[in-house]
Amino acid sequence: MKRGALLHLVPLSLLLAGCTGTQSVLDPAGKDASVLADLFWVLLMGAVVLWLAINGLFFYVTRIEPRSLSRRLAETLVIGGGIVFPFFLLSGLLIYALSIMPDQKLEGTGALVRVTGEQWWWRVEYITEPIVAANEIRLPVDHRTEIKLGADKFIHSFWIPALAGKMDMFPGRETRLAVEPSKVGVYRGQCAEFCGEAHALMSFQAVVLEQDDFAVWLEKERQDAIEPATDLARQGEEIFFEEGCGACHAVRGTEARGQTGPDLTHVGGRLSLGAGILPTDRDAFVDWIRHTKSIKPGVKMPPYVHLSEDKLLALGAYLEGLK
Ligand code: CUA
Repeated sequence: MKRGALLHLVPLSLLLAGCTGTQSVLDPAGKDASVLADLFWVLLMGAVVLWLAINGLFFYVTRIEPRSLSRRLAETLVIGGGIVFPFFLLSGLLIYALSIMPDQKLEGTGALVRVTGEQWWWRVEYITEPIVAANEIRLPVDHRTEIKLGADKFIHSFWIPALAGKMDMFPGRETRLAVEPSKVGVYRGQCAEFCGEAHALMSFQAVVLEQDDFAVWLEKERQDAIEPATDLARQGEEIFFEEGCGACHAVRGTEARGQTGPDLTHVGGRLSLGAGILPTDRDAFVDWIRHTKSIKPGVKMPPYVHLSEDKLLALGAYLEGLK
């Protein structure tokens, strides 16, 4: 292949690379997202056919000898190409699009989780369980369920592109979204409605597990927080209570019962910290506690700049250990 031709393939491959991955509507891992991806391809094909046909006709009539075009043929081209063909094609596409709407219905499925959009993170409550998590939603594969959605103060939009369409979240009003994951994996979700200064930093992970693995995870998550395993972590636990962290955060099984911030009972076992922006290792906890405001502008938690390096490391070790 010529070098010039190869160069043309570079932007194309970059473009196609954007169609796969953990946050792509075109790489569906759920029934509802598959229906939407099919809709996209059908509408795209319809648009391409229409574009080619109309431009082909246009090209044809500008090339032929004007005198060879009878009035009758001209009228046929205008009416057929300009009215009849687009009418039937667009009507067909509309009927197809309307026909898939019932598939997006909830069908009376029970709700597994309630997700609340906070400033700027996601509170995740498992409805029939004592479990409250944050920024991570675990779901069993091949199980149709409903996610109840709400918001604390601002309007957000809940979107896991690989699993389903998006749904707005309002303060004081409940909306619902059906999901039916079909592939085990970790998918990225993102707030899709501008909600304030940290909107772009408001993401989360949807973790789809085999049904057995989900049951095991649920059982583990039901347990109270585990005791600190090392001296450093025990020291961190003391600092946690001295600094009053429990006023905003809950750690089930301890005195910490705060509701303002994320529940930390199993925070060390989550995939991310700060709503999808940091890992959950000790250094990330230290970094977060010291620089909350610069890592996530607008976050309610103040930075704990007065804490010494040793105290921060101990706190980090305690939180990392809350698996
Ligand atoms: Cu929450 Cu944008």
